[in-house]
Amino acid sequence: MLRIAVLISGRGSNLDALVRRLHADPAVPAEIVAVISNRPGAAGLEIAREAGLTAAVVDHQHFDGREAFEAVLATTLDALEVDLIACAGFMRILTPTFVERFAGRMVNVHPSLLPDFPGLDTHRRALERGDDQAGTSIHLVIPALDAGPVLAQARVAVTADETPESLAERVRAAEHRLYPEVLRWVAEGRLELAAAPPTLDGRPLPERGAGFRFDGETLHPCAESADR
Ligand code: GRF
Repeated sequence: MLRIAVLISGRGSNLDALVRRLHADPAVPAEIVAVISNRPGAAGLEIAREAGLTAAVVDHQHFDGREAFEAVLATTLDALEVDLIACAGFMRILTPTFVERFAGRMVNVHPSLLPDFPGLDTHRRALERGDDQAGTSIHLVIPALDAGPVLAQARVAVTADETPESLAERVRAAEHRLYPEVLRWVAEGRLELAAAPPTLDGRPLPERGAGFRFDGETLHPCAESADR
């Protein structure tokens, strides 16, 4: 069983998808052992409680500096014996010390086709540049912000009357399919994170992530479809 801790700060729609499509699926050897928020009012905490998960708050505002906050976060994660930390809308920048402590064990979902648009406001920036495609990336967390190896991406076509809000909604829907799928691969031992660079089924990932083909409910990595 892959023991996953999910870090959140807000709404928790990705957490909800991870609960429904990963944790609640008995066929997947993964369990969410805790949900930790740095904000006490995060709506995602309620999602966690309703699902019967352990929901904890480590409020960054109660600490004198980043290091003190992260020390408690790290101790909590160690005590839970987590194999994987899944950031899902976790809005704190983590120090290199923390990231290195959990190197190869921490992933994040970012709402752009990395390496495009690290940081905030990704949808507005994509529209301002006139992109006809946007999307989301699941990546390993490294000390540099939103810069770790991309494990997988899902693409969304930009429509003629697109707004940042409408794009955000469709990208989030793609995240809700992609993130559980990627963590399922990790749980099944197909996606190897500890190796550098990461591999899928023993093969190196394509430079910009695996890419996906939708087949009804299931996302297939392009590497798989190429074999057919
Ligand atoms: C997602 O769009 C994710 O890409 C970004 O933050 C958002 C979190 O949304 N990192 P939610 O809290 O999972 O609904």
